[in-house]
Parts: sequence; structure tokens; C-alpha cells
Amino acid sequence: MKITINGITCDADAGQTVLQAARANGIYIPSLCYHDKTGVAGKCRVCVAEVEDMRGLQATCTLPVREGMKIDTQSEKALAAQRLVVDLLLSTGRHDCISCEKNGICELQDAAYYLGIERPSIQYADVQKGIDESSAFIRVDRNKCISCGRCVAGCNDVVVNEVLDFGRRGHETSIIFDTDSPMGASTCVQCGECVQLCPVGALIEKKSIGKARSWEIEKVRTTCPYCGV
Ligand code: FES
Repeated sequence: MKITINGITCDADAGQTVLQAARANGIYIPSLCYHDKTGVAGKCRVCVAEVEDMRGLQATCTLPVREGMKIDTQSEKALAAQRLVVDLLLSTGRHDCISCEKNGICELQDAAYYLGIERPSIQYADVQKGIDESSAFIRVDRNKCISCGRCVAGCNDVVVNEVLDFGRRGHETSIIFDTDSPMGASTCVQCGECVQLCPVGALIEKKSIGKARSWEIEKVRTTCPYCGV
């Protein structure tokens, strides 16, 4: 079928969402909670757009395509809403990009760059959520977590380890391991799925810390000599 995104005619398949169709056609829509592996979450609301014949802003990651659909992700209203979400996320965490291991491969940074946000416009109270270094393999920096839920969905629905969840309250809401144990003392098997799914620098493989900047690293396909994966 044919749909139009930002004035560009695109091919789309039945069953796709607007966000999936946009990606397949090389059109960027900022998104944070959606991942191909974990599927639709509809939580972050960064991917909103105006759609002809529909009232209000629509989350493109949850919206199925239909023939002739006209979507505008760059209308004044859509961009203002996208900016507000990213601005608030930047305002409520410690996203010190210069020293962050995910600098250059961070999806929040991508969204901020696309939306022209240089720095957060609001400064909230500096709530320190803490860094968990208890695991031998993974650093958990809750100050960078944007609560997108991708790691939780990956742990529970993809690898079915059922260790990660959200816990605590209000502005202290955070990912937790088991009933809020340090990661290293939890039942986590250190499979690294959560690290792969994290869009920001909240979950980082320790062995990569300080080794190289993202643009100096080349990804290659390998087979693990221990487990064969
Ligand atoms: Fe659509 Fe998060 S990517 S709501």
C-alpha cells in the first residue's frame, strides 16, 4: 500500500506500524521505547505525529498503516510535543554526553540533535539515583535511565530471565533487579540483553568502558567460543 509521510510517498505493508514503515523508507522519527525486539510499548510519546482525519497527536509506533494515510511528523504541533518529551527527559537525568560511553550511539542524543535541543530548558532538582557497580560485567547508571522499559521487556519477554522490573516511587522510579537487589547479588545471569536494548548509557558493558569512542568501534558478527551464540 501507499502512505505519505511528511509529503513523501512511501511503500508500506499491511500489519506495519507507521514508525516501522517510516524506518523501512529511510525516514527518521524520534523514538525511544520502541525496539524491533521488544515491540510496541507506546510509553515515551516521542514518536508522535499529526495524521489526516485523526484528532490529536498519534504515537506512530502504535499506529497501524492504512492505504492513503497522510502523516506529518514535522508539523509545528508534532515537533513541539517531541521537543517537550526530549527536553523533560534531558532535564530529569544526568546526561553528561561528553564523558558518556554511548556518546555518538545514544538514541536520546539522536533525538535531541534532530530536534535542535542543545541543553535542557528546565532544571529539576538534582536527584541522584545512584550507580550500581556490583556486577562484574555491567554498570548500571540510573541517573541516565529514561525509563523506556526496553531492558525490562527484553529481560522478561525476550530472554525470559524475569529479573528486571520497575520499582521505587515517584521521581525515584527506577529499574530494579529482583526485589531491588544490587545487580551483582541478584538472580541476573549477566546475559547482556538489557545492555543491547538500552537506548542511552544507563546499562553499559564494563569491558567497553574507557576503551574507545563509539565512532572508533566496528561491529562484527562473531560466535561466542563458550556458549556458541
Ligand atoms: Fe512511540 Fe515510544 S517510540 S511511544
